[in-house]
Amino acid sequence: MRAGGAAQRSPAPGLKLRIEIAARIALSHCPMESLSPASPPATVARAATAPAVRPAPELSIVVPTFNERTNVPILVERLSRLLPSADWELVFVDDNSPDGTAAVARAIGETDSRVRCIRRFGRRGLAGACLEGMLASQARYLAVMDADLQHDEGLLVAMLDQLRTGRADLVVASRYLSGGSAAGLSTQRSRMSRAANALVRFLLGIDLTDPLSGHFMIRRDAFEPLAAAISSQGFKILLDILATGRGRLRVVELPSTFRQRQHGESKLDSKIALDFAALVTAKLTNNAVSARFLLYCVVGLTGIGIHLGLLRLLLAVTLAFGAAQMLATVGAITWNFVLNNLFTYRDQRLSGWRFVTGLIRFQLICAVGAISNVGIATWIYDYHSVWWVAGLGGALIGTVWNFAVSAAFVWRTP
Ligand code: GDD
Ligand code: MN
Repeated sequence: MRAGGAAQRSPAPGLKLRIEIAARIALSHCPMESLSPASPPATVARAATAPAVRPAPELSIVVPTFNERTNVPILVERLSRLLPSADWELVFVDDNSPDGTAAVARAIGETDSRVRCIRRFGRRGLAGACLEGMLASQARYLAVMDADLQHDEGLLVAMLDQLRTGRADLVVASRYLSGGSAAGLSTQRSRMSRAANALVRFLLGIDLTDPLSGHFMIRRDAFEPLAAAISSQGFKILLDILATGRGRLRVVELPSTFRQRQHGESKLDSKIALDFAALVTAKLTNNAVSARFLLYCVVGLTGIGIHLGLLRLLLAVTLAFGAAQMLATVGAITWNFVLNNLFTYRDQRLSGWRFVTGLIRFQLICAVGAISNVGIATWIYDYHSVWWVAGLGGALIGTVWNFAVSAAFVWRTP
């Protein structure tokens, strides 16, 4: 790898002066008691030896983490041994793990500037974390791998070689290429993984053996133009990159062994099937239907069932129709809110007090949505007097309003 030679050079005279001035300013802001005459303060010591201008590393290895405190030091150790004196950085992207993963990563970073940690709040999700880490990099090449040591870090060297020699824009570690293995997956996960892979190849026409792999390396200049169209939801970032960059990326697969997890546990549960279906639909419609909007509509459809069920029940207890309809509406909106919070916005799930205020906001937004629904439907009906066109038009506008406004004021999608 390219050696970080510039780091060794001494600062230019002008810059040296600026560093000294900065050090003096820093000193003048230090409280007196923190200054010991025997040892100069750290700011001065550091400023005096600070390297001048250092270029970005050649490779950023982006590692999403959630509750991986035991694995983080082991991964750093393995990479340091694998890539000695090389030009790389390790960017952990941690969703504020309760086990303190971020603190562990930062502690290592204090003495090893190759290790950084981005800490995210109020958000969850593998794809979003990878995306943020990749966008924070200025390196020429970007790698993504898991923290839990299931991916073979040794492959990084061969991947880098493929990119450096210009043979590919994207290199994927494949469990299903001859020579690779998915030994670390349970039988059930392995079956699901193969089925999903086959579905993707068929539906999206992606001709790879493992488009759902979580381990890959890409040129940054190939990734950046695609980034805006990549969903931060779910966990299939590679699939998203492949589908978005179809026809524009030269892809190479290398065989890889997916190992057993030794410490901690997998975060991928059965709900990822939903994310997966939504992502495939989004890509099939060229992002016209976002994964989130699709989930929102599915939840809305179940809400109609709940509404009718409740209405029937309430009418049976001899409630007047108006009152029953009103209660059924509130019930269905509450149902929709709970389900959207559970599935559609599972990466930004509201809990505690924020759940309560979110629910109130959602009720108000949907009430306005219902009013605009009726208004628009009446307006269409006045012109076209086709009842179902008017009804559908009103419902569509109402749904889009509810979705857009609740995204901004209830879950605040970035
Ligand atoms: N920041 C962040 N936020 N990281 C997360 C989150 C999250 O919400 N969920 C999981 N991670 C991190 C984990 O800490 C781990 O480092 C990595 O993402 C993979 O998560 P696992 O929970 O270990 O996933 P897996 O082993 O079941 O799935 C892996 O294999 C799949 C192939 O079968 C992943 O690599 C998938 O991307 C891959 O498709
Ligand atoms: Mn794993």
